[in-house]
Formats: sequence, C-alpha cells, structure tokens
Amino acid sequence: MSFKRGQETMLTREEAIRRIQQLRETLSESNRLYYVENAPVLSDFEFDALMKELSDIEKQHPDLVTPDSPTQHVGSDLSGSRQGNKEFAQYPHRYPMLSLGNTYDITEVEAFADRAAKSIGNSFTFSCELKFDGTAICLTYRNGVLFRALTRGDGTVGDDVTENVRHISNIPQKLSGSGFPDEFEIRGEIYMPYKAFDRLNEERLRDEDPPFANPRNAASGSLKLIDPEEVGHRGLECTLYHMLGENLPFGTHDQALNAAKSWGLPVSDKRRICRNISEIEEYIRYWDTERKFLPFATDGIVIKVNELPYQTELGYTAKFPRWAVAYKFKAEQALTKLLSIDYQVGRTGAVTPVANLEPVQLSGTVVKRASLHNSDQMELLDIHVGDYVYVEKGGEIIPKITGVELSRRGTDVTLPRFPDRCPDCGTLLVRDEGEAKYFCPNTDGCPTQIKGKLVHFISRKAMNVIAGDATIEQLYSLGLVKDPADFYSLSKEDLLRLEGWKDRSAQRFLDSLEASKKVTFDHVLFALGIRYVGESTAKELASYFKNIDALSAASREELLQVEDVGEVIADSLTAYFKDGKHLEMISRLKAAGLRFETESNEGPVSDVLKGKTIVISGNFSIPREKMKQLIVSHGGKNSGSLSGKTSFLLAGEKPGPEKMKKAEAEGIPVISEEDFMRMLSRGSGDETEETADNKAGRPDNRQLTLF
Ligand code: IVH
Repeated sequence: MSFKRGQETMLTREEAIRRIQQLRETLSESNRLYYVENAPVLSDFEFDALMKELSDIEKQHPDLVTPDSPTQHVGSDLSGSRQGNKEFAQYPHRYPMLSLGNTYDITEVEAFADRAAKSIGNSFTFSCELKFDGTAICLTYRNGVLFRALTRGDGTVGDDVTENVRHISNIPQKLSGSGFPDEFEIRGEIYMPYKAFDRLNEERLRDEDPPFANPRNAASGSLKLIDPEEVGHRGLECTLYHMLGENLPFGTHDQALNAAKSWGLPVSDKRRICRNISEIEEYIRYWDTERKFLPFATDGIVIKVNELPYQTELGYTAKFPRWAVAYKFKAEQALTKLLSIDYQVGRTGAVTPVANLEPVQLSGTVVKRASLHNSDQMELLDIHVGDYVYVEKGGEIIPKITGVELSRRGTDVTLPRFPDRCPDCGTLLVRDEGEAKYFCPNTDGCPTQIKGKLVHFISRKAMNVIAGDATIEQLYSLGLVKDPADFYSLSKEDLLRLEGWKDRSAQRFLDSLEASKKVTFDHVLFALGIRYVGESTAKELASYFKNIDALSAASREELLQVEDVGEVIADSLTAYFKDGKHLEMISRLKAAGLRFETESNEGPVSDVLKGKTIVISGNFSIPREKMKQLIVSHGGKNSGSLSGKTSFLLAGEKPGPEKMKKAEAEGIPVISEEDFMRMLSRGSGDETEETADNKAGRPDNRQLTLF
C-alpha cells in the first residue's frame, strides 16, 4: 500500500503534532463522508490503518490526546437538513451506543482472549458471530410493542427513525411468545441483501441517479429516507445481536439472543459458542470462505465474552466494550498490471481518471477497468503506468485501485500526467478551490458535455422524452440538435431523412416531445442541467421563485434564502443566468411551449407573511414541502437555518432540539402549527369565531404582535 501503515519509529514531538493533526483531519472528514454522506472515499482497511497509526502515536504521546480526537469517539451519523434527508428528531441513548475494537490480525484476537482470561479467569466462553455490514440500529420494546428505533448517531444521541423501521418487514411491531421484560433495548444492524442492492442500483442507473457504492451505504441511505413507504420498498432487513435492559433475566448473551428469537425477533442462526482460541480460529476460517455464499455482506467476525456478569466486570473504554472484539476480513483483492489511464469527461465537465487493467478475476467477475477517482488519489497512490496494482471490489459496483505493489515496479514504468487540457475539446482544465476534480470549463462547446446535457435533458426525471443515447449521438453529430431547444424545431421530415428512422419511430419521438411540454416547471428547471442543481434543489427553487424570470433575476442573497441553496449553488445559478446564450436558449424553449412557471402562479394568496423569514422544524399535519409552499404563497420566506433575520421558528411535532435551543437562546419566537394556521386564516380573511376568541384570551401575545 502506498500510505504509511503503523508507526514503527518514535516520532519527535513536533513530528507527532504534525502527523496527529493530518490524521485527525483525514479521519474526521472520512467519518463524515462514511456516516453522513454515505459516500466513503477510503476503504475500511485504509481507514482502519490510519486510525491505528493515530492511536499508536497517541499512545506514545499521551499528553497530545484530546477529547475530540477520532480515537476517542465513534463517528456520527446524525443528519442535518440535507438534500433528500429530513431532519429527524433526536433522542438520547439510554446506554451509550459504542463501536467495536477491530483487528485484521489473528494474534490480536489471541491477545484479546488472554487479556480477558487475566481479568476474569478461565471459566468463560465466547460467542462468535458474523459481523454484518450495515448500519447500527437500537430498538426499544415497551410491553412487547416496538416503541422507538434510534440510529447510533454520535453514540450518545441518535436519530429517531421509528416510522421508517416500521416498514422493514422482519422487524416485529409486536412481540410473540412470553417472558419478555416490560422494557428492553435490542441492538443490531439494518442491512441490504445483495439482491435488493443490485435491484436498487439498476433502478438508480436507469433514472440517472448516482448508484450507491456498496450495500452498507445503500442501507444507511435508505434508513434515512423521507418517505417511510419508500423505505419499505428498498428490501432492507435487520439482524439483532445485543440486548440491554435493567435486570435482564439471563446469565449469558447467548440465552438473551435465544429468548429474543423466541419472541419473534430476527437473530442470526450462524452464531457459535467457542471454548478456546482454536475453536475461534476454526470459526473464522470457516466463514472467511463461506461468507462469499451468503446473500448479504459481512466484513468480519465478532467475538464476545458470553457470560453477562463477566461482560459487566470487563466493562468499556470510551469507545469500545472490553468484552468484545471484531476480527475483520480484508476486502477481496486482485493484483494486476495497469496498462493505461483514460480521462473521461462527464456531463458537468468533471474529468475522471479510469484505469485500463490487464483483465483479472475478482469475486467471480473479470475486471478490466477501475476507478482512480481524481488526481489527488493518483498522487497519493504514487501510481505509475506499468505498475502492478491492487484492485478491490468489496460490494462496490466500480472496482477501485487501492494500492501499488512497489516490490514489483519495473524500470519501464511511466509517471502518468493528469492532462491540463480537456481530452475531448482541448480546453484548459480548471480546478475550483475545495474541489477534488478538474473540470473542463467549455460547458457549452465541449461535445461530450453537450451530448451529456442533451441526454440529461430528455431523461425520465427531467423532460421524460422517449429516446436513447444513440438518438442523441445521431442528432448531435448531424448538427440537427446542438442545444435542448433544437429538439422542439425538429420536423418529421428531418427525422425520416436519418438512417434507421421510420414513420412510427419518428411519430413516437415527436409525440413524446409534445407531451414534455406539460412537464412541470421544477422538472424543466432540473432538465436545464445547471451545475449542482439536482432534482430536489430544482423543486425548492421552483416553489420559492414560482417562475424563471424571478429566478433568473434573483440576487445571490435572495438565492441563499432558499432551503438547500448554499454559496456553491447560488454562485452556479448566478453564473448560469448571466450567460446570454442560456437566456436565449430559455426563450426559445419558452416559445416552444415549455412550462417556466409553477401552476398556481396567480400571485400570493395573502401577504400576511410579507417581510417574514420563517424557519420550520419537526413534523406537521401536512408534508413539509406543502408547509413551505404555504409560507411562500402567503408572502413569507422560508429559510433553512435560524439567524438574526429569522422572524420565528414554526415548530411541528418533534422539532429539532438544536433549533429549539438556539431559538430560545436568541429570543426567536416559536410558533405552533395551530397558531400558524390561525394567522394564515386571518390573512386570507376567513377568520373564524374560534380564532377571535383565542386571540382575545391568549395570555402571551408576543406572537401576535409580529403581525
Ligand atoms: S456487537 C458495544 N455484534 O459492527 C458494541 N456488532 O464495527 C456491540 N456489528 O457498531 C456491538 N455485526 O454496528 C456486534 N454481530 C455483531 C455485529 C456488530 C455488525 C457492527 C455494529 C458495531 C460495528 C463495529
């Protein structure tokens, strides 16, 4: 591997400080990408090696350990209100939800067993289990009924995903059998079996959504979906492996899990009680091979002290139990020769290096190409064309190169040079600050980008025109379509002159174009392919600005008022609408009859919220999207975060505790849904008697003086 592993030599204090800082930054960012974005950049092995290096340096320099070091806390999966993810209510864990110490080295499992024996003697057993590769969940059952489901969060507080979990088919709402405690917690893993994962990714590729990198990411992404029904369609499953509660009536972990199984809870039947290290090793050896035939992903074996009183005696560190350890399997790797590197340009102009490899067998398929991500990754790996490289799949669709076997480097290798010009149109590439990728800035002249944009324009979630990539290639190469507006001036005669077109196919294409004129404004906006404006941002923008004229005239500050719009998106939008070519194309699309305004564009229903900036939090009796529309239709502005400009926080059920705390600290009024609806009905002139009564009788009229 090209990154440093382990820290064999003692570092000077200055070196240690520098390396610790580097490692903490890399690990924290990697934790965020893994747990929050569900888009990991490091393999588990790389991550674990860097974590071990940090922990080794901290052991040598204990005074440099700080509480915020990634060695001292578990990675956090808590969500903010990001695109596609609602804010979940958060609740504290009754017992901290920790991680597991892990190793790739069997001698460290032996050391774990020896340490345990030193503390608790020799009369104990081990429960050996599969380490399921999913996302951790904590279920609470009260009187035999599922009461709450929390994610691990930051280990202390978790996201409440109860409604989503109710749609996972093997999690019972009600326990069967008898003898369960009045209240207990049971923790486990939500995972996505390979079959469901493949189906989901096929669907996403068809819809031109980015596929999930692996089943683990797909599981944690799906668990945090907005729509519980959709969660039900994702094919998630659960396995439970740790029961907690006050005075549980069991002597061993194994008995607790057997009881859980008898109450109808999903518990793995692949567990085994081992009496010594050789039985543990036998279990590891067996599953290292057999796991390849399981229908779901596993990434190791968990070895636990089985007797509960001994678990209590051994206790916990800040991050791990001392009574369990994970032995992790290395992802399957293949070693092969790097023949050449292609640089591919995407629809947005991003240039991705792709390795061409000497074909090699890996986990049942032949791998010929692998991703190299970006130029930083190439540098980090110190990769040369002609090198022998390690390729990993580990459940991921596109294999990636994870290391170079330097001992096999020949003398004829060559250092690849990331191109400074676009491989398609020759324009000088640029790299914006904070971006990992190089881009071709010739957005409107680079053939690959133009074709990519045309394909995007007609795709299902955009204009939904029935045509494939080959049609676009044909129309573009013959000069018939150079931008999306050209589609709408095509005639049947134009099409019939092209090779392979018949009356029926031409008519079908033209009908489909005609039908696309009914596509709503948010989809049209998405179809324009403005950089960083995805489906959900397009929806937010359409519902906020109502029409393209208001949107294209909006200042950066106004754009920043829209939920989901940060500086990067605001800058991209202003740059897009500054370009005369884009405005000209939009006016041709308008003339063709495409919809550039939302349906209910009759103006605001009232101006009762004029000048008010409102932040919403929690669940309402109507979908959040509708609530935001309501605010806008009454003249108000919806904003994602509390600031000095916020007029009030509209709090539904289970509002975000952080927002509530901040509102209180900053004296920002908090208004309930009920009060809010009353305000609106006053504004629309249909005030009811009941409202008037309430108004008169309200002891705290701070909210009313707002209007
Ligand atoms: S026991 C106190 N058992 O692996 C920690 N964890 O990398 C108790 N995992 O956080 C956890 N399979 O999310 C346990 N059979 C198993 C597991 C398992 C998967 C996960 C779990 C844990 C992570 C650590």
